[in-house]
Amino acid sequence: MSSSFVLRGDLCYSLDPQTLCAVPDGYLVCVEGRSAGVFAALPERYSALPQLDFRGKLIVPGLVDLHAHAPQYTYRALGMDLELLEWLERHTFPAEARYADLDFAGAAYDRFVEDLRRSPTTRACLFATSHAGATLLLMEKLEESGLVTRVGKVNMDRNCSSAAREADAGASLAETRRWLAGCGSFRRTAPILTPRFIPSCTDELLAGLGELQRETGLPVQSHLSENLDEIAWVKELCPWSAGYADAYDRFGLLGGANCPAIMAHCVHSGPEETALLQARGVWVAHCPESNANIASGVAPVRAFLDGGLRVGLGSDIAGGAQLSLFRAMALAIQVSKLRWRLLDSSLAPLTIPEVFWMGTLGGGSFFGAVGSFAPGYELDALVLDDARLSGPQPHGVEERLEQMVYLAEDRDLLAKFVAGRRLF
Ligand code: GUN
Ligand code: FE
Repeated sequence: MSSSFVLRGDLCYSLDPQTLCAVPDGYLVCVEGRSAGVFAALPERYSALPQLDFRGKLIVPGLVDLHAHAPQYTYRALGMDLELLEWLERHTFPAEARYADLDFAGAAYDRFVEDLRRSPTTRACLFATSHAGATLLLMEKLEESGLVTRVGKVNMDRNCSSAAREADAGASLAETRRWLAGCGSFRRTAPILTPRFIPSCTDELLAGLGELQRETGLPVQSHLSENLDEIAWVKELCPWSAGYADAYDRFGLLGGANCPAIMAHCVHSGPEETALLQARGVWVAHCPESNANIASGVAPVRAFLDGGLRVGLGSDIAGGAQLSLFRAMALAIQVSKLRWRLLDSSLAPLTIPEVFWMGTLGGGSFFGAVGSFAPGYELDALVLDDARLSGPQPHGVEERLEQMVYLAEDRDLLAKFVAGRRLF
C-alpha cells in the first residue's frame, strides 16, 4: 500500500497531558508516512488520495511501550507471589539463560513478536538477554513485523546466578560490540544500551558502557528505584553515590543532551531523585501492573507530571503479565487512586487524558515526532471497532475512548498503521 492515503473515522488524540482532541467523522491525511493533519471536511488538495473508510470506528495514535522484556514473555504471570530480587533469581535469570540456545530463542521470540504485532503497541523499547546472537535474532523478527523498536542486549556481570551472568566487564563489553556490529542493516529496529540495573553491573562495566555511549551516541535504558530491598542493596554496593540515580549519573548513563535515557519504575524516587531525572531529561517508564504484581509499590506519577518530567507507560513483561497498554492505562489510574486514598492525598489520581497521553505522546516523544495526529508526526494509528460496547444510548468520541481504555481487547483492533505502513 502507498504510504499516502486518507483515514476516515472518529478521531481522537492528545494535545497535551490534560487535553484530548476529538473529531467525529473526520479525515486523517497521511502523506509519505506522516500526518498532514486532521480535518472535519477533506481539503480538495487531498481528494485524489486513496481513502480508507472506517466510519463509525475509533481511530487513535498507536501505543508506545517504553519498557518490556521480550525473553520474559514465556513465563508471564508466573511467580507473582514473589518480590523483585527473589523473582529475578527464581524465574528471570534461569529463563533468560536459555536464550544461549538459538533454537529456543527463535521459537520463543516468534510468539512474542507475533503477539506484539497483534497488540495495540506500534513502538516499543525492549530488553533482550545478555546474548548477542539471540538479541540479533529478536531484532530480525521485529524488523520483519513492521513494528518500530529499540532493542537492548542486556549487560550483567555480577550478583546473578551463574548461568545468566557474563564472565566479567571485558566479556560483557566485547559481546556488546559484537552485537552492535550486527545491527547495521535494520531500518525499523535500532539498538539501545541496556545495563540491567546497578546490582548486576560492576563499576568497571558501567564505566565501559558510559564510554561506549559517548562514542556511539546511543540511548540508554535501565531500571531505577523499583523495590525497597533493591534500593538498600544499591546503597551498600555504591557507598560513593548520593543515591540510586546518581550511581548511573556518575558514569554518564542517566541521560543528558547527547544521551536519551529511559528509567523504568521510579516507584520510590523522592524529590531529589525526581529533580535529577528532570534535569537529565529522562523518560520515566511507568509500569503499574508490574509494580502491583511483584509488590514494588505505586510510583508518584502525579509528582513526575507536575515536575515536568517525560513520562511514558511500560508493560514490563513479565513483571507485568499483559502486553496491552490499554490495560496499563486503566491500571495507572486505578493504582493512583489507591495511592491517593491510602498513602498521600496530596497527589491527585491520574485521569483518562493523562494516561492516554502517557501511552501515546508521552512515550512516543522518545521516538521523535510520534504519538499524535498533528501535522508532521509519523503516522502510527489504531482503528478500533467498539461496536460490541455500544448503545442503545449514544456515546461521544471521548467517552468511547474512555471505555476502550478499560475494556479494549486485541479482537477490537481492526487495523494498525506504523509510520504510514499498514500491518493488518
Ligand atoms: N530489575 C532488574 N532486572 C529486572 C527485570 O527483569 N524486571 C524488573 N521488573 N525489574 C528488574
Ligand atoms: Fe523491567
